[in-house]
Amino acid sequence: MTTTEHGNGNHGPSAVSVIGLGQLGTRLAQAFLAGGHTTTVWNRTGAKAAALAAQGAAPAADVGAAVAASPLVVVCLPDYPAVEALLAPVAHTLRGRVLVNLTSGTPGEATRMAGWAAGHGAGYLDGAAMSGTRLVGRPEALFVLSGSPADFTAHRDVLSSLGNTVHLGADPALAPVYDTALFGVIWGALAGFYHSVALVGTAGVEPTAFAEVVRGHLPFVLSLMTEHARQIEDGRFPDDDGTVEVHAAAMDHLLETSRAEGIGTDVPGLFRTLLTRAAADGSGASGIASVVETIAKGGTRV
Ligand SMILES: NC(=O)c1ccc[n+]([C@@H]2O[C@H](COP(=O)([O-])OP(=O)(O)OC[C@H]3O[C@@H](n4cnc5c(N)ncnc54)[C@H](OP(=O)(O)O)[C@@H]3O)[C@@H](O)[C@H]2O)c1
Repeated sequence: MTTTEHGNGNHGPSAVSVIGLGQLGTRLAQAFLAGGHTTTVWNRTGAKAAALAAQGAAPAADVGAAVAASPLVVVCLPDYPAVEALLAPVAHTLRGRVLVNLTSGTPGEATRMAGWAAGHGAGYLDGAAMSGTRLVGRPEALFVLSGSPADFTAHRDVLSSLGNTVHLGADPALAPVYDTALFGVIWGALAGFYHSVALVGTAGVEPTAFAEVVRGHLPFVLSLMTEHARQIEDGRFPDDDGTVEVHAAAMDHLLETSRAEGIGTDVPGLFRTLLTRAAADGSGASGIASVVETIAKGGTRV
């Protein structure tokens, strides 16, 4: 299903409606406006829509009018139950349109919402904003989307006003899977960074000075991820980037130094526990990427 085929909306194929104008929804609407798209907005509390009207958006009288205004309807509310409760009374208006849901949720919720939309004759793309609100509208703002490839293609131009919009595949559940997985990457990186800032702070190093050095180190880290992804797919773990045992020894140095400086050991302790489990699984002499096998088989649960 494509919007071009159905031709719904008052303002042509590049018109978009944004429903839910909180921190993220407001930035979404502003990015669509900046991209030159006719943008209709609706929010439960009207003042937020009025503020966007001053920037060129068209405020809709009610949520049904917002849906009816455009072939592409973007919704951004706190959770899926709120989306369902809001859209259910106007579901018939969705027919022939594409609903893009940028509300955070679970894979199961995305699958159910896609089925609900299909039951009302609407296309559906589930999505997640991965770069906070500040970058929205810039090329480096990552948005992951999944659902019908045809619906994505039909609205790619409008959606690309938001930033780097990546279509992950036809399964609507993929977007929330990536959402949580990418959050895991961010938190792993930030946890290491915060620990390191505390550690270099004991030597009088300013966080901003350290961050500059980290920035220069990250291309190497990225190259490891690319190479290790290949190793994990191949199921072969050469020791080029250090074995589990080598990394465990390095982690012991970090733990020892952290203890000596009197800072917390929570973060390196977490990684040390993982390396201990990997070694117990018989991976001590394998390349460090083999820890993914220890994680994948489960065992420790918080
Ligand atoms: N903010 C971020 O950095 C960020 C980044 C990535 C993803 N997200 C996700 O984006 C979604 C929205 O986040 P946000 O930060 O924009 O939230 P927010 O600032 O708290 O805004 C929530 C919006 O939802 C509306 N709303 C709440 N309950 C409603 C209901 N029952 N019926 C109708 N409207 C309702 C609110 O309307 P009122 O104005 O009337 O209260 C408001 O416009 C969340 O799922 C969040 O996880 C946010």
